[in-house]
Amino acid sequence: MKLTVFRHEREAAAVLADRIAAEVAANPALVLGLATGRTPVPLYQRLVDLYRRRGIDFSRVTTFNLDEFWGLGPDHPGSYRAYMQRHLFAHVNIDPARVHFLNGLAPDAERECARYERAIAEAGGIDLQVLGIGGNGHIGFNEPAGALNARTHLAVLKPQTRRANASFFGNDASRVPADALSMGMATILQSRTVVLVAMGRGKRRAVERMVHGPLTTRVPASFLQLHPQVEVLLDEAAAESVTLSALSVTAANP
Ligand code: GLP
Repeated sequence: MKLTVFRHEREAAAVLADRIAAEVAANPALVLGLATGRTPVPLYQRLVDLYRRRGIDFSRVTTFNLDEFWGLGPDHPGSYRAYMQRHLFAHVNIDPARVHFLNGLAPDAERECARYERAIAEAGGIDLQVLGIGGNGHIGFNEPAGALNARTHLAVLKPQTRRANASFFGNDASRVPADALSMGMATILQSRTVVLVAMGRGKRRAVERMVHGPLTTRVPASFLQLHPQVEVLLDEAAAESVTLSALSVTAANP
């Protein structure tokens, strides 16, 4: 893993947005894997900003979001589909036909997950997957457990994860759906490059276990150690328990 520490989340967002813009310029048909949560908000702001200032052309870009709440439709303001619309898709020239989501209202979860796996394969796989990390080491909605589902599946959310998502539901964890559809760790590990962003003290322990810990289903993020092309963007608080030898680059921008 290549780890980089930034002074402020804005700097990490700017570096990642510039990188995505460069990749889209080099390959206009880039396939992006996208994450939700609070962490990528500055990244999406910056991408919108770059689109307005430099006109990055998203028209041939394909996207696949990592996960979606089970039982929520795209019009529900708490759905990840609505989040992506608010933060990115409504503001750039992305082609709606190239935007892919798991359907939280699908009649059959298993068939919906199989459909998503096929769609990713038909798009030629994901070139660059953006990830956040849960405070308990979850990735997407792959929660710590005795065993993991490798592929896209219906996941039961931990109380901690529902609390962490409460801000999207009027700060009421009981309104956060109890289940979600999520890419599996094998789906995620098939992306050509993975960029994980973790900010703040609440992610310190999860980052430490992801970087230094044993591979364990108790910390789904630890499986990223198996991937040859993982970049981790941290702030100082999230990087606090990572030993210096693991840090290949330290960016201390003014
Ligand atoms: C959520 C999402 C993840 C996200 C994580 C961290 O439950 N399913 O994809 O990375 O939790 O969220 P945040 O960035 O708000 O801390």
